Amino acid sequence: MEIKKVGVIGCGLMGSGITQVSAQCGYDVVVCEADQELLDKGLKKIDSFLTKGIERGKMTEEQKKATLDKITGTVKLVDLKDCDLIIEAIIENIDIKKQVFKELDGLCRPEVIFGSNTSSISIIDMASATSRPDKFLGLHFFNPVPIMKLVEIVRSIVTSDETYNTAKAFCESLGKQIITAKDTPGFIVNLLLIPYLLDGVRAYESGVATREDIDAGMKLGCNMPMGPLELLDFVGVDTTLFIADVMYDEFRDPKYAAPPLLRKMVLAGFHGRKSGKGFYDYGK
Ligand code: CAA
Ligand code: NAD
Repeated sequence: MEIKKVGVIGCGLMGSGITQVSAQCGYDVVVCEADQELLDKGLKKIDSFLTKGIERGKMTEEQKKATLDKITGTVKLVDLKDCDLIIEAIIENIDIKKQVFKELDGLCRPEVIFGSNTSSISIIDMASATSRPDKFLGLHFFNPVPIMKLVEIVRSIVTSDETYNTAKAFCESLGKQIITAKDTPGFIVNLLLIPYLLDGVRAYESGVATREDIDAGMKLGCNMPMGPLELLDFVGVDTTLFIADVMYDEFRDPKYAAPPLLRKMVLAGFHGRKSGKGFYDYGK
């Protein structure tokens, strides 16, 4: 099947990036948010990323306009019904994701492919909420989507070859490099990344060093672009907690157990950069 029109659910950190990159690569995109205020906020994020791109000489005013012209925002799931591929990028919560996919399944043509940008949740579990589990797969983009080159494609035990090949061709058309993983919590990257991030919190919590020194250690000592606490703020402290909980639930391995500080921070609303405060302060 040829993908012409793409639906994206959620216009937060990831959904806004997936929407932008798809539109930049010539696809018509309909992006759905929970309400108008959140939609406006998400669309503004896309606008300002593109503006910064112009300032950096990476794109022209005309290219920015052409990209924005390809994007339609909505707060109604039904407006995604004519899309050929729908990528979900909402909160990392199995019940909420399944509810959205169940509703979507009733709205879309049977041949439409459903992809989830989940970081950790079982693909077959979400697919089971639909009547098209063979047309369901994980499409795991990385943050920030317009810059990071990777998409991890996750096949469940029933994802068809046709679905996989169509989704792979779509991701490659966005200029992304593909790796393929089995449907196991955290797939490839988060299986390795999440214990590292949690160890960063444990080091901070137990007083090994200041947050600045922990981050500087990994940046200057291991050439990482961000230290673990900076990266946690960048990914979202809330999202990292949700991912860790999914992985701990499945593996029961202490390396995936969220440190108490992470849970306390989420309860306090310290969700990282997006909320203005996490391990560091970002002001307004
Ligand atoms: N428009 C176009 N291009 C832009 C841009 C914009 N608005 N902003 C930045 N860029 C380009 C820059 O021009 C530059 O490209 P070149 O190298 O070709 O010049 C590149 O993006 C990097 O930009 P900067 O050098 O200015 O930015 P930086 O050095 O501060 O890097 C960063 C920013 C890429 C975010 C870097 O800090 C980084 O890689 N951080 C770690 C990110 C990471 O690990 N992400 C994965 C998180 S885990 C995940 O996503 C999975 C999950 O499930 C949780
Ligand atoms: P986010 O909190 O920035 O954005 C989620 C957005 O979804 C919010 O704006 C919210 O309003 C919206 N939303 C919630 N319910 C909705 C609904 N029913 N309909 C429409 N919109 C709805 O979260 P995020 O960081 O973009 O993460 C989204 C997904 O991507 C999660 O599954 C996460 O695990 C995954 N992911 C996150 C990262 C990351 O670095 N943050 C990286 C890769 C994958």
